[in-house]
Amino acid sequence: MAFPANRLRRLRRTEGLRTLVRETRLSPESFVYPLFICPGNGVRKAIGSMPGVFNLSVDEAVKEARATRSLGVLSIILFGLPEKKDEVATGAWAEDGIVQRAARAIKSEVPDLLVMGDVCLCEYMSHGHCGIVKAERRSLGAAAAPPAISEYEIINDASLELLARTSVSLARSGVDIIAPSDMMDGRVGAIRSALDQAGFENTPILSYAAKFSSGFYGPFREAADSAPQFGDRRSYQMDPGNIREAMREIELDIEEGADMIMVKPAMPYLDVIAAARDRFDLPLAAYQVSGEYAMIEAAARNQWIDRERVMMESLLSIRRAGASIILTYYAKEAAKLLA
Ligand code: PBG
Repeated sequence: MAFPANRLRRLRRTEGLRTLVRETRLSPESFVYPLFICPGNGVRKAIGSMPGVFNLSVDEAVKEARATRSLGVLSIILFGLPEKKDEVATGAWAEDGIVQRAARAIKSEVPDLLVMGDVCLCEYMSHGHCGIVKAERRSLGAAAAPPAISEYEIINDASLELLARTSVSLARSGVDIIAPSDMMDGRVGAIRSALDQAGFENTPILSYAAKFSSGFYGPFREAADSAPQFGDRRSYQMDPGNIREAMREIELDIEEGADMIMVKPAMPYLDVIAAARDRFDLPLAAYQVSGEYAMIEAAARNQWIDRERVMMESLLSIRRAGASIILTYYAKEAAKLLA
């Protein structure tokens, strides 16, 4: 036989054939677009390490929300840069907090856009950690003020109360989906019962169930001004080596009442996404995080890669691994290309 009987290239010959047999497709409806809300009016402040992403004041965020919806994207997720930070994250749960104000404005102007609220304390804490900190301060002597933190612990259960309070306050301001990203143990259960008690039995929880302690969050910490002032997040976010533990995290969140689950970051953790898809039946989201975005942008700026092609390929890989919901800074642009 001159040719192998099975010629796989037969179906690769034309764009029509390739499109017909494509196994995985992207659609704007599966994207969630992250917005960073800051104080002021008419503010659109560029973020150095994330070209094309901005800190937006509430009025600008409303415009952005409208533009996002008109591209066929169904959902946004809100992060806040509060006016003031303190040691009990007041800005996270205040009725007139920055995200609460943005959610009210967006829901009244663009009611058919689903608004997710990221629930975490790090953006609102003076020390930048995701929970309450018990710290020992050690003075380095008269010349070296302020005192350095010598030992600290992130207190789990006391933090749950603030996370629950934040969630109820977000639901009250019109947020449709509560998305806890703090990685305290038991927070999904605590948030579920607080929401139920406050009459928000119908508000779903999308849990950042398997969130790894990742170097890929670097640019986000510039965007959200949330870098820890001392130490790191390894005592609460997951160790990058652990996939079995990720399954255990997800399982516990489902037991506690999560309606949807998330793996984060996305591309360096495609195996975790695939394993989660295989094992659990809940809707599965993945977060293409700031560092994933920044790497593509940086290489494209150097003309080392074809930006649009890599953008779509990276999103497709996340979809193919099994995530049906993708949080991505490319939501608007990818939606435009798919139109
Ligand atoms: C808050 C939070 C982070 C991200 C989403 N929610 C940062 C962190 O844990 O440091 C990262 C998102 C991104 O990098 O795009 N805890």
